[in-house]
Amino acid sequence: MNVLLIGSGGREHALAWKIAQSNRLDTLFAAPGNPGIAEHATIAALDPADHRATIDFCRRHQIGLVVIGPEAPLVDGLADNIRAIGVPVFGPGREAAKLEGSKGFTKDLCARVGIPTARYFRVTSKDGALATLDDFGERVVIKADGLAAGKGVTVAMSRAEAEAAIADLFADGPAEAVLEEFLEGEEASLFVLCDGTTTAAFGSAQDHKRVGDGDTGPNTGGMGAYSPAFVLAPDLEERALGEIVRPTIDALAGAGTPYVGVLYAGLMLTADGPKLIEYNVRFGDPECQVLMMRFAGDLLETLLAVAEGRLADLPAPAFDDAVALTVVMAANGYPGAPETGGAVRGIAAAEATGAMVFQAGTKAEGKGVVAAGGRVLAVTATGHDVATAQAAAYRAVDALDFPTGFCRRDIGWRAVVGQDGPAG
Ligand code: AMP
Ligand code: GLY
Repeated sequence: MNVLLIGSGGREHALAWKIAQSNRLDTLFAAPGNPGIAEHATIAALDPADHRATIDFCRRHQIGLVVIGPEAPLVDGLADNIRAIGVPVFGPGREAAKLEGSKGFTKDLCARVGIPTARYFRVTSKDGALATLDDFGERVVIKADGLAAGKGVTVAMSRAEAEAAIADLFADGPAEAVLEEFLEGEEASLFVLCDGTTTAAFGSAQDHKRVGDGDTGPNTGGMGAYSPAFVLAPDLEERALGEIVRPTIDALAGAGTPYVGVLYAGLMLTADGPKLIEYNVRFGDPECQVLMMRFAGDLLETLLAVAEGRLADLPAPAFDDAVALTVVMAANGYPGAPETGGAVRGIAAAEATGAMVFQAGTKAEGKGVVAAGGRVLAVTATGHDVATAQAAAYRAVDALDFPTGFCRRDIGWRAVVGQDGPAG
């Protein structure tokens, strides 16, 4: 079977690497791709934002499955347009993708079907937002409604901070936003495959969103992750599936807009149980990289079963017991303007330690690659516990030669100091 993979990040490099291991694969095409993806796929001369060209490509190359990695094309309705010509797609349509595309849509759905989440108000003006502040305590969370690449959220710890965030949000006039209650607890990400009606848990992970060691500094797309998230114990995972994920999938199916793809539930594990922080309608990046290191099945077979509504016929997805941990190497300046063009050397040496170096913001130049984005590499390794996986990942990081890049040195620290890790 021929497969078309849409995307160009470390997430898509990990997906390409795993799809390429399937016996059922004839040719894997990728657009726009990157030099790491190109090691496993034929880069298609195709702009996936051009839906007609993408459909045309599917027809000309007898594509049997399209896998859409990032959220923007999903929110834009690419999956609907490809499904309309009868080609199976792994990824939700425009309406179901609102779970990520509109925070207000998700909060209203949660309220309608009683899904545990932070108490909230939707607001559309500065005065409306300021008037709502009194309904919350000292701490409040302010979120722009639409896709914001991780930058639309302010966790305000004081009234002054909240007022500043509101002023900022409405600086250009009316806007859609959500104000919500501050939730206390530890965060975990749960991934669930959904074929419209059937769901299957697909692993957990913990992300590191802040740019600096000890979870300090500005938010990023993610500086590292590990899987599984030990803090999400089996009973809590079962509650999250039963109280949060399945009611969501049922509500979308009932509305005639079934969810097909992977649903990423960002959870807060509060004293009252798991609560939904947010949904993403795709794999996390870099969470996907750690999931792919552990997934023990045939990824093409699995994604195709999801796209064709046959998830109930598959055995439950199986994962290695090993812990996987990934460290993101970013270009200096990230999450602000990253320094691009810096040489990235030593990938082969890093992989010789047993790790996988997934490429994100890289560009081919001469015989090697240079930095071409904020997050450049995701250096990923496994071990029998978090400390071992962490040591292995940093051994690989230290074998790289990327002088204009940096990374956090403490990915996995919460688990390593024993807060949530397995005993010992
Ligand atoms: P989001 O983009 O909705 O995932 O928000 C980004 C980050 O803000 C989350 O990963 C949390 O760390 C934090 N956050 C979001 N909503 C809340 C909340 N209601 N209470 C506490 N922290 C939150
Ligand atoms: N790493 C967070 C995300 O992919 O949204």
